[in-house]
Amino acid sequence: MSLLKIARMGHPVLRQDARTIEPEDIEHLQGTIDDMIETMHDASGIGLAAPQVYLPLRLIVFLPIDLRSERVPEPVVLINPEFEPLSDDMVTDWEGCLSIPDLRGKVARYAQIRYTGLGPDGEPISTEASGLHARVVQHEIDHLHATLYLDRMSDMKSLMFISETRHHKEDTGDD
Ligand code: NI
Repeated sequence: MSLLKIARMGHPVLRQDARTIEPEDIEHLQGTIDDMIETMHDASGIGLAAPQVYLPLRLIVFLPIDLRSERVPEPVVLINPEFEPLSDDMVTDWEGCLSIPDLRGKVARYAQIRYTGLGPDGEPISTEASGLHARVVQHEIDHLHATLYLDRMSDMKSLMFISETRHHKEDTGDD
């Protein structure tokens, strides 16, 4: 396994639509998948999309974090992912992105979704998610459609340097 370089905002690979992966190509992606998981962990991220490592393919990895649980989840690999909202409810909360270092901002996302795709073994996956789990999936699938979280911010006043928000928790409403 090896660490991959992460593309930063401004590189064109982040602004192009990712390609669908053919089933027969999945077996050739196992090394890439392992490298993406290692790169995500090394960068202390909770999700990574293939375009962020210069591969315009419909492939994401993420941690399905449940904030009510102390357990650190196993990474999920999703090939050709899609999601559908399960209700119209939206939740606005903080996001960051490994391709936009040091910043974070508040973004509205669907509160409950169902996501589908193929696992690394090519088997179909269909999962309901809410909370941070649903948020990270929507963020990563956005990367496959050339969309960054900044594009979805309705109030740019919440855009902040993470280092500053740590010093002013009471001002940001963070907990
Ligand atoms: Ni991102």
